[in-house]
Amino acid sequence: MGPLIPKQKSCEGDGGLHCIPSFACGLFTWPSSSARVVSASGINADVSRRDRKEENELSSQEPAEDVPSFSPPRKFQFSELKSATRNFRPNSLIGEGGFGHVFKGWIDEHGTAPAKPGTGMVVAVKILKTDGPQGHKEWLAEVDYLGELHHPNLVHLIGYCNEGENRLLVYEFMEYGSLDQHLFRKARPLPWRIRMKIALDAAKGLAFLHDRNPPIIFRDLKTSNILLDCKYNAKLSDFGLAREGPIGGRSHVSTRIVGTYGYAAPEYVMTGHLTARSDIYSFGVVLLELLTGKRSMDASRPSGQHNLVEWTRPFLSDRKRVTLLVDPNLNGVYSPRGVHKLSSLAARCLSRDPRVRPSMQQVVDALTLIQNFTDMVEPVTPVASPLKDVRTKAKN
Ligand SMILES: Nc1ncnc2c1ncn2[C@@H]1O[C@H](COP(=O)(O)OP(=O)(O)OP(=O)(O)O)[C@@H](O)[C@H]1O
Ligand SMILES: [Mg+2]
Repeated sequence: MGPLIPKQKSCEGDGGLHCIPSFACGLFTWPSSSARVVSASGINADVSRRDRKEENELSSQEPAEDVPSFSPPRKFQFSELKSATRNFRPNSLIGEGGFGHVFKGWIDEHGTAPAKPGTGMVVAVKILKTDGPQGHKEWLAEVDYLGELHHPNLVHLIGYCNEGENRLLVYEFMEYGSLDQHLFRKARPLPWRIRMKIALDAAKGLAFLHDRNPPIIFRDLKTSNILLDCKYNAKLSDFGLAREGPIGGRSHVSTRIVGTYGYAAPEYVMTGHLTARSDIYSFGVVLLELLTGKRSMDASRPSGQHNLVEWTRPFLSDRKRVTLLVDPNLNGVYSPRGVHKLSSLAARCLSRDPRVRPSMQQVVDALTLIQNFTDMVEPVTPVASPLKDVRTKAKN
């Protein structure tokens, strides 16, 4: 019999702590009982250990080859999750979103009981805000979808709890938190190659969903729902808004409009008609954020630049001007061919006409090509200080 839960890959020396502030990203929602809200700050302090390992750690497409066997999510008692998170202690808090708070916890290696901190397996425990906007329906969607779907680029749901009013979800712990926490900071920007790997991983996760029969539409793709492990393997999280796509020759499903401003496809916002192509638009927005290092919506930018898509659209298909869009924090260290390919891919994903957007499989193929581009502009190697040479010579 296979393991009850996927074996965690160890992040040696990291201790599994990530926890840097998660920035509010100008998220906005449509008026609805389950609308997403602005993310509040992720809280906890242990940044430094992650920092030391961060740069140049790029695993070579590891998860795809190493598919663990999964068991169905386990039902936990509330008391077990309380002790797994040390009574939901404030310093176990790793983030907060529309659903509620996320805590770090420990369970034994079989996933059956709480464990002492530092032993067994690290998990992320999400607890639904009882007064929050997202309700039981989203919790159930998450358990239903993630309980059934297993893929190296989807976060693994280890268990859940529904006891009285309490609704909780227990996930595999993703050491580096969410992509938005890394992408929009100025210090230590994510290197180009890591950005491209994350894009490919996320695309594979989404392609897997779209490939189901009926297809599954994720509906809430954004950088805060792309989680990273300590090797920058990316996984999609948050299936509360996922829906089955149209079947039997129907072109779309009609839904109430939920999602996040700045990411949702315009035709979906206007009509509520949902197709897999709405996800592809959102994926295009994520590509644009990876390229520019800028948030999809930011009211603090000068007027005309608040909406990243509208601002950058004219540049995307202009080979000469497109490099102006590249995140300046990369200090010129990127693949020029990659930038051109990525921007034209983003432009296609962001087409106003959903019918001309590529399929997720086509997106995966394009991103696979980008990984192999060898025209990386490498950082300038620092020249040895002449002063140092003089001193060395003097010693001899
Ligand atoms: N499995 C996990 N492992 C590690 N950290 C996680 C995990 N799930 C969530 N987090 C952390 O908790 C934060 C909040 O996540 P959550 O999904 O509740 O909200 P969000 O995605 O930021 O916003 P929204 O509710 O709009 O989707 C994330 O940004 C991430 O830092
Ligand atoms: Mg989320």
